[in-house]
Amino acid sequence: MHTRGLCDRVESTTLPMNLESCNNILVVDDLAENRRLYSLILREAGCAVTEAASGDAALAVCEARDYAMIMMDVHMPGLDGFETARRIRRQPGCTVTPIVFVSAVYTSDSDRYKGYGEGAVDYLLAPVVPDVLRAKAKAFLEIHRRRKEAEELARLLEQQNHQLRAAYDELEAFSYAAAHDLRAPLRAIGGFAEILREESAAALDEEQRDCLDRIAAATARMNRLIDSLLILAGVTRSAMRHEAVNLGALAQEIAQEMQQSSPRNIDWDIAPDLSAQGDPGLLRILLTNLLGNAWKYTARRERARIELGQAAKDEGTAFYVRDNGSGFDAAQFADQLFKPFNRFHSHEEAPGNGIGLATVHRIVTRHGGRIWAESAKDAGATFWFTLG
Ligand SMILES: Nc1ncnc2c1ncn2[C@@H]1O[C@H](COP(=O)(O)OP(=O)(O)O)[C@@H](O)[C@H]1O
Ligand SMILES: [Mg+2]
Repeated sequence: MHTRGLCDRVESTTLPMNLESCNNILVVDDLAENRRLYSLILREAGCAVTEAASGDAALAVCEARDYAMIMMDVHMPGLDGFETARRIRRQPGCTVTPIVFVSAVYTSDSDRYKGYGEGAVDYLLAPVVPDVLRAKAKAFLEIHRRRKEAEELARLLEQQNHQLRAAYDELEAFSYAAAHDLRAPLRAIGGFAEILREESAAALDEEQRDCLDRIAAATARMNRLIDSLLILAGVTRSAMRHEAVNLGALAQEIAQEMQQSSPRNIDWDIAPDLSAQGDPGLLRILLTNLLGNAWKYTARRERARIELGQAAKDEGTAFYVRDNGSGFDAAQFADQLFKPFNRFHSHEEAPGNGIGLATVHRIVTRHGGRIWAESAKDAGATFWFTLG
């Protein structure tokens, strides 16, 4: 069973940032001497500058590249600064690019507000003071660099998430197929052992019959394990339904089935109306496991008591299954409790394969909820769960 390859495929990645691309500033001005002056100041501050002599030219270069800041003359022939800004804002890569307007004449308050409405983040009054321009440019470059890093990080996370999902799906399909394919040879082992017992009964001595009994018991146990593994895999493979489910009514049915298949004297206390929202099939598996455990681990109690109810908790309403059985040390086992194959009772104390709580955990997680347990040795157990 090769599962390492799957994990190896989820690559560890470093941030391949192209910092040069964070340095670009666009200067838009119809006057060549202004463009030259601003470019000189900005280049001294380490910026890469693109010049555009009109609003139309600015729109054309904005299509091709992403800028950390756009410095825009308000008054230009043709498209003025405000109109150019409005159109630049509509371009997909420029929706948040900071635009700093430069105006040679005093800009009235209403003009300023108009500029802010078009996406201006700042104003500079000409003649521009070089230190002020350099300081503003540096601040915008830094903001831009951080934004680019955040975008890149988000992209990488998305990619890794995708790879993890694919690896997980593959692993899931693999365990399902493996469990499924084990069934046929197991059926053959059980079947041939049975034939041997029936057809050679007279010729077998006690020890040989005992061997056949052990084969039959082991095959039955492995069959149950395969069933459990298939149910576990099925929890994530099946499509989820979202319906109103009365957990109380469902639990009553399950309790009745258990009482019928092996009658016991148990005090059941199941709240009649426990409305929940979720997948009825999965919620039945969940309750079957929790009530089944409560049933199993109260086997040695003279007066066994099993409850199902709900109560207000920090995260909203939580449901609980409580019993007065043998319990376990919840403080010690809390982080192992819901992992497959983990058991805290011996086979002699109670038979089982340790898949039940892993299945329950998956069902709760698929519903967007949380599950936790309170218990102590010999003091019963309470399993709490929410359903998102
Ligand atoms: N209600 C309970 N009371 C005491 N112990 C429990 C209870 N439910 C679960 N456990 C402990 O958690 C272990 C894992 O449970 P589960 O996954 O359902 O496996 P299984 O029931 O097959 O042993 C059990 O083996 C048992 O030690
Ligand atoms: Mg169980």
